[in-house]
Amino acid sequence: MVYPIVKYGQPVLETKAADITEFDTPDLNKLVEDMFESMYAAKGVGLAAPQIGVGKRIAVIDTTVGEDAGQKLVLINPEIISKEGSQSGEEGCLSLPTFRETVTRAKKVTVRAFDAKGKPFEMTGEDLLARAFLHETDHLNGTLYISHISPLKRDLIRRRVRKLQKANEWG
Ligand code: NI
Repeated sequence: MVYPIVKYGQPVLETKAADITEFDTPDLNKLVEDMFESMYAAKGVGLAAPQIGVGKRIAVIDTTVGEDAGQKLVLINPEIISKEGSQSGEEGCLSLPTFRETVTRAKKVTVRAFDAKGKPFEMTGEDLLARAFLHETDHLNGTLYISHISPLKRDLIRRRVRKLQKANEWG
């Protein structure tokens, strides 16, 4: 099932999500499947559960946008355990459609998480994958990428969103 993507302004996006305590349940497996479907439908490379209105610590990532099923990643209760270097690049978010800003992030990032069966793993990613680990883990902590841009630029985005909300052009 494809869920609509929750847009910036909804409190669930700025609330710390809850840990998953039961793994490999039909509900969890269905939710993960629906998250991939919703992410691909929106043509994203990552999606966090709060973006479909679910305040749980689950994120899915596929930097190939569905081109390579082997690249599908599920991160449950993820934690960033190390960061190295720096990269600057454009970043966007499905919850802030049409906006993109330059965000400086670590270049190499190691995440520790559980898979949907409850098996713990660690994974190191560089470049786009490192960026996705940080962006999605941020989501689960109630943080959006616009927290990492200048207050001036953030304020500009907020004002543009408010205008779109008033015009009923924002979900
Ligand atoms: Ni996002």
